[in-house]
Amino acid sequence: MKKLFYSIISSSFLTLSAWANTPVIVVHKVLDDITNIDVGSSHWRGAKETQIILYPQTTITLNDKKANELNANNTAQTLWVKAITDGKHIAFKLRWHDESKSIQSGNAIKNTEFADGFAVQFAAKYDDPTKLPYIGMGSKDRPVVFYLQKAVQKLFEPNGNGDVQKQVNRANVHAFNSLINHDLEKFDIDVEQLAVRDYQKAFVAEGFRSMTEIKDHSTKFNAQMQYQTKWFGQNEWEGVVVRSLNDEYVKFYNDPFPVAFAVWDGAKMGRDGLKNLSTWIIAQFEGVQGRDGLKNEFDKDLTAANIANGETLTKANCASCHNYGNVNEAASSYMAPNLSNIGGYSTTPYLIESITHPNAVVVPGYNRNAHSNFAWYYEDGQGGRTSAMPSFEYLTQEEINDITAYLKTLKAEVK
Ligand code: HEC
Repeated sequence: MKKLFYSIISSSFLTLSAWANTPVIVVHKVLDDITNIDVGSSHWRGAKETQIILYPQTTITLNDKKANELNANNTAQTLWVKAITDGKHIAFKLRWHDESKSIQSGNAIKNTEFADGFAVQFAAKYDDPTKLPYIGMGSKDRPVVFYLQKAVQKLFEPNGNGDVQKQVNRANVHAFNSLINHDLEKFDIDVEQLAVRDYQKAFVAEGFRSMTEIKDHSTKFNAQMQYQTKWFGQNEWEGVVVRSLNDEYVKFYNDPFPVAFAVWDGAKMGRDGLKNLSTWIIAQFEGVQGRDGLKNEFDKDLTAANIANGETLTKANCASCHNYGNVNEAASSYMAPNLSNIGGYSTTPYLIESITHPNAVVVPGYNRNAHSNFAWYYEDGQGGRTSAMPSFEYLTQEEINDITAYLKTLKAEVK
């Protein structure tokens, strides 16, 4: 049974202010250098924690029956975020509940293992809040930079081939003398220092298939994740990402800037697009006021919109291509992105742009060659893409607002 929780509000006189407020993460200033900060550092104490909701990314359906079954009833989840700066670096600390700790052993043969992980994403350009990159890893001419950390067992393997699993049989250790125990200590230190952290990576991307790993150290960063077992309540992951305030990819001045977060659940075979993600969230430096461009645009007032009319218009104009919530009328689920959680991970300006200018951000979607009957876009041979979606610019401003307000209600709830 498809048990999804949708908050479909069909009454137009409900006020929309409840969802119209984009959370703001206040970046707390600290005096010490934070380059090597970790999840347990005392520097986090002064920073206020902001609650953010992550939604299941339902854009495409994976070709993986087991994973689809595991994720059929996904709800939204809460992520708690803190941010600090020392004037040269910026650091984010994330925490989220996860009852099962899934760590990838690094053994390539066991490719059925999936790791828990998280990502922090920044827009390379954010001066125009109406033209931010596509939330799912950027889009053409609107790049993102993101930092990805996955829970991977550390491997000490000096040859770099990834073939050394275990060099010490710890079960035998107590039988040896203290000299060997001393060697073991040294081995552990070596592992700590030399271990391959394969899944701590920085990327630039202009869409799913254009992800390029930044390997030239032009962005310096540090990431870490640690599982916290709680005596009472839920177990959780804590993660940290630290990067320079400015590098050649993203620069942070005093202005508020957009940041987004994603979390993968290894127990549910999460990987790639199978994740929970936020919309663009605003981060703002402590003490900086009166630069509300992003916030005004994100929280664009739709209180006058008629959601019930938006629902009708969406059914009439969009349901032939898009599936969403309980509406499954498209000829194929490959035809267009599934909009079931679009209200959760999209900003209002993005939704309006999607309706009026489909070519501005073309969601990459499925492999075009594999689903050529349902390609989401046409290629002009010069790198340009034309969306298969027609523009609905001819609708009235009221109608566009009604549809947008309705799309905003399409999202899973937090369990
Ligand atoms: C002819 C099929 C078709 C129709 C009709 C259509 N769309 Fe689309 N839509 C697409 C395709 C294909 C994409 C993916 C390519 C792109 O991003 O333009 C898309 C993308 C989108 C996106 C971005 C999705 C994401 O995951 O970010 C939104 C939002 C959207 N459409 C909303 C609508 C709305 C609202 C309507 C009706 C007013 C509509 N669409 C009508 C085919 C269609």
